[in-house]
Amino acid sequence: MVQVELRDAFRLLNHGATTLIASAHDGRRNVMAAQWVMPLDFNPPKFAIVIDSNTYTRKLVEASGELVINVPLLAQADLVWTVGSTSGQSSDKFADFNIATLPSQVVGPPCIAGCAAWLECKVVQAPYAASVAEALDLFVVEVVAARAAAELWQDRCWHFSHEVCTMHHTARGSFFRTGETQQARLLESNERY
Ligand SMILES: Cc1cc2nc3c(=O)[nH]c(=O)nc-3n(C[C@H](O)[C@H](O)[C@H](O)COP(=O)(O)O)c2cc1C
Repeated sequence: MVQVELRDAFRLLNHGATTLIASAHDGRRNVMAAQWVMPLDFNPPKFAIVIDSNTYTRKLVEASGELVINVPLLAQADLVWTVGSTSGQSSDKFADFNIATLPSQVVGPPCIAGCAAWLECKVVQAPYAASVAEALDLFVVEVVAARAAAELWQDRCWHFSHEVCTMHHTARGSFFRTGETQQARLLESNERY
């Protein structure tokens, strides 16, 4: 695991990978899947996350003002689908599904072992925030610490393989794997594409 500079935090999710949102408050902890997570700002890095009002995650995040965005690997697809299809309201998913954790550096919720990256976040408590959450289930968070798996994050960018990569939810537990990199170049003026 390596520390990721906060100015590079947006790059951890610029490709729109599926995430796991870990939350905790007052002795309770939880994890859910979230696909609707996107970078909003570079520095300080901010993200937008949709957290449905019916989720237990929502209760814990509103109470603590903290969460961890975990970026799981394709190998963790069954875990993602499972925690995205069950509620943590009445039982602890970490115990139920043997989910190993790692301590976070700044916030209370834990990091989930085996992921590609971990973004520790605090909910932005701006005047607009409560009404946006109320109306759209949308939370703006600021990243306060970011780490990534050392073998996958080098030279400030991802290095995935066909076997070891992140994933993207399409529907009903079906995922695309993150694909190969293609480097674009800038067109010359008047050049045909
Ligand atoms: C792949 C996947 C992506 C999901 N993305 C989101 C999302 O972006 N926002 C959301 O509110 N729920 C999303 N969900 C649904 C929650 O993960 C689901 O409601 C979960 O059971 C909530 O758990 P909780 O009640 O323990 O917090 C997703 C589910 C799956 C399987």
